[in-house]
Amino acid sequence: MQTRSPFGIVLSGSGSALPDAILDNVALEQLVETSDEWIATRTGIRQRRLAGPQESLTQLASQAAERALAMAGLEPTEIDLIVLATSTPDDLFGSAGAIQGAIGANRAVAMDLTAACSGFAFGLVTVAQFLRSGVYRNALLIGADVLSRWVDWSDRGTCILFGDGAGAVVLQAVELQEASTASDGLLGFELRSDGSLNHVLNLAATALEQPLKSGATVGQGNFQPITMNGQEVYRFAVKRVPEAIEKALHRAERSIAQIDWLLLHQANQRIIDAVADRLGLPREKTISNLERCGNTSAASIPIALDEAVRQGRVQPGHTLALAGFGAGLSWGAVIVRWGR
Ligand code: UT7
Repeated sequence: MQTRSPFGIVLSGSGSALPDAILDNVALEQLVETSDEWIATRTGIRQRRLAGPQESLTQLASQAAERALAMAGLEPTEIDLIVLATSTPDDLFGSAGAIQGAIGANRAVAMDLTAACSGFAFGLVTVAQFLRSGVYRNALLIGADVLSRWVDWSDRGTCILFGDGAGAVVLQAVELQEASTASDGLLGFELRSDGSLNHVLNLAATALEQPLKSGATVGQGNFQPITMNGQEVYRFAVKRVPEAIEKALHRAERSIAQIDWLLLHQANQRIIDAVADRLGLPREKTISNLERCGNTSAASIPIALDEAVRQGRVQPGHTLALAGFGAGLSWGAVIVRWGR
């Protein structure tokens, strides 16, 4: 086990929300030189959901959060902490505050966390520290992204991959007294960053020179569309993610055979299959919704988790290996138990 603290965590609820509009691969053929067959065989993606200009990340995230709270049987006012993992807030100052207001979680402190497609894994471990220390009892972790706003829709190397959505989980502190049968649902983790590969995947800010009358010159802020070296990200993920999972499993004192489900960031079906193969895990134990949702960045793990929980595949007591990876470059694996 990674720590021995007086409190542990329980994952007690999940929720998700997707925009209504569907863009399938056949429709993408109208935009760029590609084909349904190429996208499906290279990535596993058939369609993705896209937020319209009137839909906000805050709306999607709030819906997902309310569904997670309902499953956990908690009122918004019982939440102490909200962490929103996102790279695409509605507001550069952060969107967690707007979500806190929208769902009426008026006791909660709310903050954004940016770690791209690793955001949910990094957020899970971050939130767990507040609960394990006994500072907070009930927390909401949301992963949400609307990358469609930042995709270059003429770049076939990236625009075929991404979709929009939000997922959320409720985490609650449990006391780990000697007499108690409760145990910590966070079994082990490994979080990593490698900034020397930062250039491989970016949504970079740009500053257009703007001379002021005072004589000073400032940079007027904007962002470039997503740029990515797909092959390099692919190679990195297939090598680093299994390593991180093995390290997290070691800390959790678990073997791969004790994992009920492998739930990776939904980037590419070939990455999911390759990681499962490297770990020696049967592919039936992997969770994937790539075909319908594409890559929803920080939202992809909690959306797929929520779907699997509601389908009854993931059940209370099941052990999951979750792993995110992406820009930074960043990657992380978390071994958790679902439910009480
Ligand atoms: O959230 C994490 C972020 N990103 C990822 O996880 C991405 C990881 N990487 C990948 O998923 C894959 O690298 C991609 C799906 C992005 C690309 O697949 P690939 O098998 O690595 O293809 P490639 O880049 O090696 O390209 C192979 C060929 C090239 O043509 P030539 O040079 O062989 O003639 C590309 O120009 O496929 C071409 N190509 C396409 N063809 C049809 C690239 N994109 C497309 C496309 N449709 N959309």
